[in-house]
Amino acid sequence: MDKLNIVKVTGREILDSRGQPTVEAEVTLADGTTASGSVPCGASKGIFEAHELRDGDNDRYFGKGVLKAVENINGTINEAVSGIAAADIYAVDKAMIAADDTPDKSRLGANAILAVSIAAARAAAASLRLPLYRFIGGISGNRLPVPMMNILNGGVHAANNIDVQEFMIVPVGAQSFKEAVRMCCEVYHALSALLSSKGFSTAVGDEGGFAPDLGGDEQAIEYIAEAIQKAGYKCGSDIMLALDAASSEWKGNDKGEYILPKSGKTLSSQDLIEHWKMLVGKYPIISIEDALDEEDIDGWQRLTKELGEKVQLVGDDLFATNTKRLSKGISLGCANSILIKVNQIGCISQAIEAVKTAKKAGYTSIVSHRSGETEDTTIADLAAALNVGQIKTGAPCRGERTAKYNRLIRIEEQLGSSGVYPGAAAFKVKM
Ligand code: PGA
Ligand code: ZN
Repeated sequence: MDKLNIVKVTGREILDSRGQPTVEAEVTLADGTTASGSVPCGASKGIFEAHELRDGDNDRYFGKGVLKAVENINGTINEAVSGIAAADIYAVDKAMIAADDTPDKSRLGANAILAVSIAAARAAAASLRLPLYRFIGGISGNRLPVPMMNILNGGVHAANNIDVQEFMIVPVGAQSFKEAVRMCCEVYHALSALLSSKGFSTAVGDEGGFAPDLGGDEQAIEYIAEAIQKAGYKCGSDIMLALDAASSEWKGNDKGEYILPKSGKTLSSQDLIEHWKMLVGKYPIISIEDALDEEDIDGWQRLTKELGEKVQLVGDDLFATNTKRLSKGISLGCANSILIKVNQIGCISQAIEAVKTAKKAGYTSIVSHRSGETEDTTIADLAAALNVGQIKTGAPCRGERTAKYNRLIRIEEQLGSSGVYPGAAAFKVKM
């Protein structure tokens, strides 16, 4: 028997950063190596995501328990992957996909499948004595990602009055990842001081960004721009801005209008496009994610025509890390970038395929966390391994977010002179 063959897979219910149950899997190989992997959970989930299996037993965690997913790991998945070489991550994932046999992984649960996919990859890397990024990316996985750091939270991630979910800073002018992190932390602390001095709350949202009640998205942007200056940087050259509207949460009426839940505004698709155009004209915004709803294909086409040259337009809920949806979007001229969230598709190999498809079409890819996270740092390695050049993993606050930044600081140190921090080159838009 090959020493890398999987001999046993077990699951357990652990907690995510919101205190909700999630799945962890542990994989044991023939040579005795064990490794674990755990899965995140979104709040602004898209309708095209793979299925997260929850127990629905209201006596436990208000129905959100994941004991069925754990049982599926201990039973069906254990049988399906035993004997397969963990180093062949495509074979491990394929065996689970075949055992599940549904288009959205709903029988076994995408949460069960992903936990094992991650644990198996980690076990293979450990057995081969390779860092995870090296095992997945080989010798060419050497590009550190530019952090898109979410320092002000709104939408469903915060109990404040802001509809846009994420306001991010993007340190394109840094010379290294370590410097990028330092710049962002300095801005984060400057923003904290600024908000306090104006009498606003500095309590944080789910991704560690501040969550004050403000006058609207423009005021949020202006405070961030001021904090960038106060920290000693130039907004528009050292640091750019990015937004995630998460506008699939604004699904409105049957006329296809958007209703912003907090401000109560009703906007047509074109009104919203005009709003983004106005913001892009006024502020140094390099990227907007989910600017429109996941089903507003016609709007996405218009948006891409009108803003696609100037701004990175990211499809999160729109593509759901799904290669089929991405290919369709590419052929229709929707967006120019894809957010890669492994749990939207439910296994590592299919997320890698989405990145490859994006690259071929000239779309950028951003590896991303979810708003509910664990201490698992796999996405940090994945970002470096796949050379995507961009990562979203929240504010420099809350351990489940800093774990990813700290992992990337260590990866940069290991890569030494072969490591590349791409800065503005990670973005295809004109600055
Ligand atoms: P979610 O949000 O993890 O709550 O879905 C993250 C995002 O929209 O990018
Ligand atoms: Zn998003």
